[in-house]
Amino acid sequence: MHRAGPKRKFPATGNLRYNPEMASLSGLADPTPQGRSVYVETYGCQMNVADSELIQGVLAASGYTATDCAETADVILLNTCAIRERAEERVSQRVRHLIGARRSGRRVRIGLAGCMAQHHREKLLATIPGLDFIVGPDGYRQLPELLEADHPATEVRLDRRETYEDIAPVRGEGVRAWLTIMRGCNRFCTFCVVPYVRGRERSLPAAVLIEEIRHAASSGYKEVVLLGQTVNAYNDGTVDFGELLRRAAAVPGIERVRFTSPHPADMTDSTIAAMRDCAQIPPYVHLPVQSGSDRMLEAMDRGHTIAEYLDLVRSMRDAIANLAVSTDIIVGYPGETEQDFEATSQLMEQVGYDHAFMFKYSRREATRAWNVEETVSETEKGRRLTRLIDEQSARAMKINQKSIGHTTRVLVESPAKRQPNLFVGKNPQFKTVVFEPTVAKPGDIVKVAIEAAGPHNLRGRQI
Ligand code: 5AD
Ligand code: SF4
Repeated sequence: MHRAGPKRKFPATGNLRYNPEMASLSGLADPTPQGRSVYVETYGCQMNVADSELIQGVLAASGYTATDCAETADVILLNTCAIRERAEERVSQRVRHLIGARRSGRRVRIGLAGCMAQHHREKLLATIPGLDFIVGPDGYRQLPELLEADHPATEVRLDRRETYEDIAPVRGEGVRAWLTIMRGCNRFCTFCVVPYVRGRERSLPAAVLIEEIRHAASSGYKEVVLLGQTVNAYNDGTVDFGELLRRAAAVPGIERVRFTSPHPADMTDSTIAAMRDCAQIPPYVHLPVQSGSDRMLEAMDRGHTIAEYLDLVRSMRDAIANLAVSTDIIVGYPGETEQDFEATSQLMEQVGYDHAFMFKYSRREATRAWNVEETVSETEKGRRLTRLIDEQSARAMKINQKSIGHTTRVLVESPAKRQPNLFVGKNPQFKTVVFEPTVAKPGDIVKVAIEAAGPHNLRGRQI
């Protein structure tokens, strides 16, 4: 059901013009939605942020305008996450609240998009009365039609070829442009719902992506973040991830090229060499490991051992000076013993992570681990999680304090939220730096002398 849409067109302002071809593709002969407003709320990872921008692109092409006011919107769409149960609970509560607050007398369509919509496609309409539409990650082209329907409507088919390469996203403000370079995942780690809700891996053509990066640069974005579930598995048939990184780094005006999330088993010499050679690719890598125990990695089917992971970190650090490394950790996967847990704690210390995202295992329906009996109680998961968080916090504090007395180059993002006389931005290691400016504006790269450090940020003054 893939449609060869029109070639991607890049609107000068980031707002898409009405595109008659899109309208006819979606069955809308008459652009009746002209003037209707859509409110989008995004949950979960950066892929969802980028998908929300695509959704806005699809709807803008049918005449909808974006609004950040849920109360007055004609369409309310929550772009959802299914990765853990808690993420789904939050969305359920929020959408029920929005449905409850809907006033009669005006036609307001409320629906769910993305991973949770796909995950619970069979039951959502029944369990959440008042829901008007459900659309999975490969169904966004159908949104204009779904919104026209006068009954609850769903589009939850997965499409092996859908990449939305011809859809121009409506990007948010800021210095950073998100760019999905591949969709889906082929790995099927036992705990993970992603391959079931996002389908198989597919890469966008490099030429389209480079054009998109040029467009982002000419719209004023200074940083581009290449996104994919296993982003370094990118391959469009001729261009691999390392080569794509090099081409992206060569686009004039783009100061920094970041990417997330790579899979350790997909990391190649070509990627490491590109990171080493290109000044525009900052020395930072997010390398999810999940556990420090080989037994657990095997049970999760992660496709590598701890020794291989440590080798990889070593060779990346040898090649790339001052490399910052972060990771994802799951505690309490079925079968995780005290010993396995200690191995995770030790691995984190051994690698010396700059940052870690740590989670309690959450059993997800349809995954390979769905029928595997849990052995670690919620209380025990909580204890393990708290310990790792405390250890990581102390570790990050120690690492960050080593920056005091040094200077770092910050890509300025905005004034600080609570102290508007200060600015915030990220340094090459992707640490948040809060600083006193002399002359700085969003988009500048400025030199900051670091004077203080906490576990989550650095503080200093511009020099
Ligand atoms: N339970 C807990 N954490 C999970 N993650 C993925 N699936 C689950 C799950 N079922 C975490 C992994 C992954 C990150 C994006 O989310 O650590 O790397
Ligand atoms: Fe999920 Fe594993 Fe794919 Fe990452 S690599 S999205 S954890 S299945």
